[in-house]
Amino acid sequence: MLQHSGSTQDPQNWIACLTYKSKACYTPSTSELEELVHKARVRNRSLGVTGMLLYENGKFLQTLEGPPEGLRLLWSAIREDKRHSHIEVLSEHVVSTRLFSDWDLLLYSRAEDRPQPLAAAREAAHDLADYVGRMARLALDGDDARLVSQLSQLSEDGWTGEALLARLVEPTARAMGDAWLADECCEIDLTIGLSMLQLAAHAIRSTPTAGALRNSRFSILLATAPGEAHMLGTSMLADQFTDAGWRVEMPFPKTDGELVSQVNARRPDVIDIGLSDALPRHHALARLRETVANTRAAAPENLAVISVGGRLFSEAGATAASVGADYARPSVIGASVRLAQLVEQRRRTRTPS
Ligand SMILES: Cc1cc2nc3c(=O)[nH]c(=O)nc-3n(C[C@H](O)[C@H](O)[C@H](O)COP(=O)(O)O)c2cc1C
Repeated sequence: MLQHSGSTQDPQNWIACLTYKSKACYTPSTSELEELVHKARVRNRSLGVTGMLLYENGKFLQTLEGPPEGLRLLWSAIREDKRHSHIEVLSEHVVSTRLFSDWDLLLYSRAEDRPQPLAAAREAAHDLADYVGRMARLALDGDDARLVSQLSQLSEDGWTGEALLARLVEPTARAMGDAWLADECCEIDLTIGLSMLQLAAHAIRSTPTAGALRNSRFSILLATAPGEAHMLGTSMLADQFTDAGWRVEMPFPKTDGELVSQVNARRPDVIDIGLSDALPRHHALARLRETVANTRAAAPENLAVISVGGRLFSEAGATAASVGADYARPSVIGASVRLAQLVEQRRRTRTPS
C-alpha cells in the first residue's frame, strides 16, 4: 500500500504518512468533534501515530503519520467509520521525519464565517495575477480537486509543466505567504494551502523527457532547512530531479547534526537546503549560513555542491554568497541543469591529472 520515497534508512524507522479527505455524514457539534479527537488521541498515542485533523464546512482533511503497522491498523478503523463517507486518499508515502511530531492529533476546526482571504488578488485585472489569486484561494480552501483541474486546463491550453510551476505554482505560494503576512489567513491555513499546492504540483508533473539522464550520474540530498515547516519547494525539486534521472534522497533533518550525519552516510553530489517558498524568512538567513557552514565542514573531502532556495532567494535579494552556498536557485525550474553543470565542473577541478 505505501511506497518508499527513496530513503536508504533502516526500514524499522520508516514513518508512513497518509493524507485523505472525506465528507461528514452529518454536521458534528463542537463537543462531538472534541470527543472524537479526545478518544483518537489516546489510541494514536498508544500506536505511536501523530497528525492533524481539519474539519470545515462538512469536510474532513486528515494527515496521519506513524509506524506503518500502527497506521494500517488505524486506517482500517477510520475507513469503516460511519461518521464520514466519500473518503479519498490524497497522498501516501514513507518519510524519515514526522511533520506533526508534537501532536497526537492536532484538531483544527475552521469558523464558517472567516474572512475571505486574498480579496485584493481576486479583484486583480491582470490575467496571470488573477489566476494566481484564484489558485491561492483554492489552495487555502483545501480544494485540491479544483486546483488540479485548473492546472490541467492550462496544461491542455498548451502551458508546459515548467511554465506552470514557475509562473503559477511558485507565485501562488508567495501569494499565500502574503495573505498570511496580511493576517488574511492563519498559519494552519497556510500549511494546508501549501500541502494542497504540493499535491497539485505533483499531479501535473511533466513526464521525463527522452534526453533525461537515466543512469543516475548525479545524486542529490534534498533537505528543508532544519526548523523550516514549509516543504513545497523541496517536494517540487524531488519531482524535477527524479524526472531528470538523478538519485534523490529527501530526509527532512530536524537539526544541523542530523543533516550532517545524513550527508556523511549518503555522500551526495549536491545538497539542497530549502527555506519556505511562501514566506521570506529574513530572520532565518544567519541560521542558514550556519547550517551551510556545518554541512560543508562535515565532509571536507566530499565534492558536494551546496545549493539553497526559497522565497528569500527568488525575490528578496539574498544570494548564494550571503549564506556561503555554491548556488541559489531563483526557481525550482532549471535547477537540475545548473547543478549538473556545477557538479561536472567540480569533478573536473578535483580529478588529479
Ligand atoms: C474523520 C475521522 C477521523 C478519525 N481519526 C481518528 C484517529 O486519528 N485516531 C483514532 O483512533 N480514531 C480516529 N477516528 C475514529 C475511528 O474511526 C474509530 O472510531 C476509532 O478508532 C475506534 O475504532 P474501533 O471502533 O475499531 O475500536 C476518526 C474518525 C473520523 C470520522
